[in-house]
Amino acid sequence: MRSLLFVPGDSEKKLAKSLGSGADILILDLEDSIAPGRKDAARRITRGFLDAQAERRRQLFVRVNPLASGLVLADLAAIVGGRPDGIVLPKAEGGESVKTLAHYLSALEAREGVAAGSIRILPIASETAAAVFAFESYAGSSARLCGLMWGCEDLAAAVGATENRRPDGSYPPPFELARSLCLFAAAAAGVEAIDTVFPDFRDGDGLEREARAAERIGFTGKAAIHPGQVEAINRIFTPDAAAIAHAKRVVAAFAAAPEAGVVGLEGKMLDRPHLVAAERVLRRAGAS
Ligand code: COA
Ligand code: MG
Repeated sequence: MRSLLFVPGDSEKKLAKSLGSGADILILDLEDSIAPGRKDAARRITRGFLDAQAERRRQLFVRVNPLASGLVLADLAAIVGGRPDGIVLPKAEGGESVKTLAHYLSALEAREGVAAGSIRILPIASETAAAVFAFESYAGSSARLCGLMWGCEDLAAAVGATENRRPDGSYPPPFELARSLCLFAAAAAGVEAIDTVFPDFRDGDGLEREARAAERIGFTGKAAIHPGQVEAINRIFTPDAAAIAHAKRVVAAFAAAPEAGVVGLEGKMLDRPHLVAAERVLRRAGAS
């Protein structure tokens, strides 16, 4: 999952447009981009889009409304029969949220004749203050868990912050903390860490800077809100030729010395963490 493009689920025009965006995953949104009076229309249009894309070439996730909204069962009842590849759960608060959603999905998969356990779960894990204290509980919560995304627009609103990005693009400490916790929690759970959206969709340089910084610290993908953001995100989260060549040399150096815990390559010491990192680069290159 390199790029995940949010598409308002009530916009037939944007849904059609999103298919040509090149995003690895489309997130058909039923939550914040849909006005309260449009929820039913969004469910119907999103389901129609899922059905029309039965022979799909890219993965289709649906962002439902939060568990506490009272809307999520109606969302799921409308869309599970369309066989979404995954559900994005906003305002998730730890492993308990994932388990609750997983139970709902199991019941609806059975009712709709959808393969049991086939629909994955991607929580947005930092959108409430309580969520920040629940990161540790994602590990082992469900086999459906496929990643963790962090978000900072709702988190800012939750704590009353008037600024969640500084003018230079960096995050003030509370939001940097949420980002770091997302990264660690994803690694602890053995799933992918997905960086939050970059809302200023006309600022291509800012997007590049933020995406590169995220990739360097371990995020494997980033959410997008506009098709114009997808190309840069795909490029930045695909290991480049130099990184792949170096990773191959590291793997080869260890393969040539099966008894060695540590080897030298190009004047640098390499031990176990370097091998793990190199294998990860090759896995990501293979997946993209
Ligand atoms: N998915 C698919 N198509 C999109 C899109 C998206 N997320 N965002 C824009 N487009 C389309 C537009 O409809 C427009 O199509 P057209 O050329 O056929 O008219 C084209 O891309 C260019 O869009 P542009 O004029 O640059 O932007 P806009 O003012 O129409 O839209 C937003 C700006 C922010 C409203 C729009 O990008 C959007 O809806 N983003 C998703 C918001 C969302 O889902 N938020 C929730 C998650 S945080
Ligand atoms: Mg939101």
